[in-house]
This record gives sequence, structure tokens and C-alpha cells, in this order.
Amino acid sequence: MSELNNIAKQMVAPGKGILAADESTPTIGKRFAKIEVENNEDNRRGYRELLFTAPNMGEYISGVIMYDETIRQRASDGHTFVTVLEKQNVLSGIKVDEGTESLVDSPEEVVTKGLENLPARLPEYVNMGAKFCKWRGVIKIGENLPTANCVQMNAERLAKYAKLCQENNLVPIVEPEVLMDGGHTIEKCYEVTKNVLDVTFVELKKAGVELGGIILKPNMVISGSTCETQASAKEIAELTVKCLKETVPAEVSGIAFLSGGQSEELAAETLNEINKIAVDCPWQLSFSYGRALQASTLKAWAGKSENIVTAQETFLMQAKKTSLARDGRL
Ligand code: 13P
Repeated sequence: MSELNNIAKQMVAPGKGILAADESTPTIGKRFAKIEVENNEDNRRGYRELLFTAPNMGEYISGVIMYDETIRQRASDGHTFVTVLEKQNVLSGIKVDEGTESLVDSPEEVVTKGLENLPARLPEYVNMGAKFCKWRGVIKIGENLPTANCVQMNAERLAKYAKLCQENNLVPIVEPEVLMDGGHTIEKCYEVTKNVLDVTFVELKKAGVELGGIILKPNMVISGSTCETQASAKEIAELTVKCLKETVPAEVSGIAFLSGGQSEELAAETLNEINKIAVDCPWQLSFSYGRALQASTLKAWAGKSENIVTAQETFLMQAKKTSLARDGRL
């Protein structure tokens, strides 16, 4: 087994999944605004320390995705966050994309940027102790959207990124996210997701990416957030597993879903249903949740140091629930 395959397997080990704590500074600002916490470096550091030092979080969490600022920060005891996580038996990961830019011919759509200086940045993250990376492509469903060009460009960049990561012994999380925003049906989401995954794997293979050394981070196949008829967790699970079986090669070690705007409850329920019916799937089906692991924790914390212990308990409760769901045991 290659080293990359070994790390990928650890990331989706039974009972475990990934915490996406890689919100950029503006994005964490949006989360903080909801709990009326100022978006300054001290608060961002303090909040991440709360998460990463939650006692024994490594029972449920295999890896944490960080943002550039975060991976350079230290806990109050002076240790780097990478060291703090290592002690918890948790792997460190880093988001390496640099956000998105509008497509020239279709300005409503975006393509992810950050490739130009990526070869120079990756060795620095390796020296800091990172074991894996994340890059997110964003696909919107709308009238005449997505365009073939948007799907293609995002897939090509995901593949280039993935190859560069593997050349640096980093496991790439390949995240082609079809957004749930909009009034589209679950069937439409299935059709678009299937196409996006097909094109993504064509490009990954073309680029010579070792599929046993990646983690795929897809959206679930789900109704648009403003669609009148919302599919049930069972329907979401059925169409999601069908779509993945049709598109994802068996060599891929693991799939770790994003939560994408599902509530904590729904994201646990859908993951549970998926794992209940996925008995004959060749890959592990885990989670790489951001909002669906943090929403109630942020509320419990509310920026107050006297709430840290309660907030950590809240985080561990949600992590445990998601870990059970990840094995279909919720
Ligand atoms: P959500 O689970 O909040 O969608 O975040 C996951 C993520 O990393 C998106 O890039």
C-alpha cells in the first residue's frame, strides 16, 4: 500500500471523518456575525483552539482541514495547532485553493483559482506537518447552468491540483461541489452531479492521479434549498448512492461528503441512511462537514470563555452522532 493510500484510508477509517474548519477569514466572519462575535485574529484562534482541544475528539475525527492563517497559529500552551492535533491522533490538512473568480463567458459561474503558485506553497505545508489538502470547485444549478465549460474548467483545475499534491506526498481532497442553492429538483441535482463526477474522473485519470490516494468530497444528491418538494433522507441516500456507483471508480479509497447547508440533524440523518444502504459499495462513505459539525458549538460558545467547556461538549456530541451515522448506526 502506498503512503498516500495509507493516509487516505486513515482519513476515512470506520467511525471517523473529517472536520472542515478551513473557513476563510470572510467566511468565519459570517459565522461569527450570527453569534455577535468580532472577527479578529484572537477570536478566530481561540475558537479553533476550542475545537482542536476538545477532549478525545480523535475518537470521531480523523483529520481537520485548516485555513492558511490557522495552520500557522498556536494553542495557548505554545504548541502549534498541528502538534495539538497530532496529540489527539488527528491528521492536519490545509485548504490550498484561493477562492473563485467569475468565468469570462458566463459571469454567474465561477472557477477556482490558486494553481499558479501552488508548487511553491505545498512544500511549506509539508514542513509544517500537513498530510492532506483540499481544493473546492463550485458548480451552480440554474437556468442553462451549469455550462459545459464551467464543469470542464473546474475538473481540469481539480486534476492539476490533485497531481501536484500527490507529487508532494499530500493526499488531495477533491471537492467538486454542486451547490444546493436554488429551486431545482433532486432529479436535476442527480443529473448535474453525475455529469460533474464523470468529467472530474476523466480529468483525474488524464492527469495521472493515483485514485487510491485521493479522497472525493462530493455533495449529496439533494433537492434545491428552495424547491417546493423536498426529498426525504431515504430518497437522498438512494439517489446519492446510485450516482456514486455510476461514476466513482472502485480504487478511490474514500468519499467524505460535505454538508453544504444541510442542518446538523439532516446531515447526520442522510449520512446514516447512505451507510445503511451502502453495504456493497467499494469505498468508505464518511463525512467532511463544516457547518453540520459546528453550528450548535458556535451557538454554545458565543465568544465567551466561560462557555468553552459546554461548547466542547456540544461539539463532541455532534461529532459522536455524525460518527455513528457514518457507520449507519445512528
Ligand atoms: P460544509 O460542510 O459547511 O458545506 O463545509 C464543508 C466544506 O469544506 C466546504 O468546502
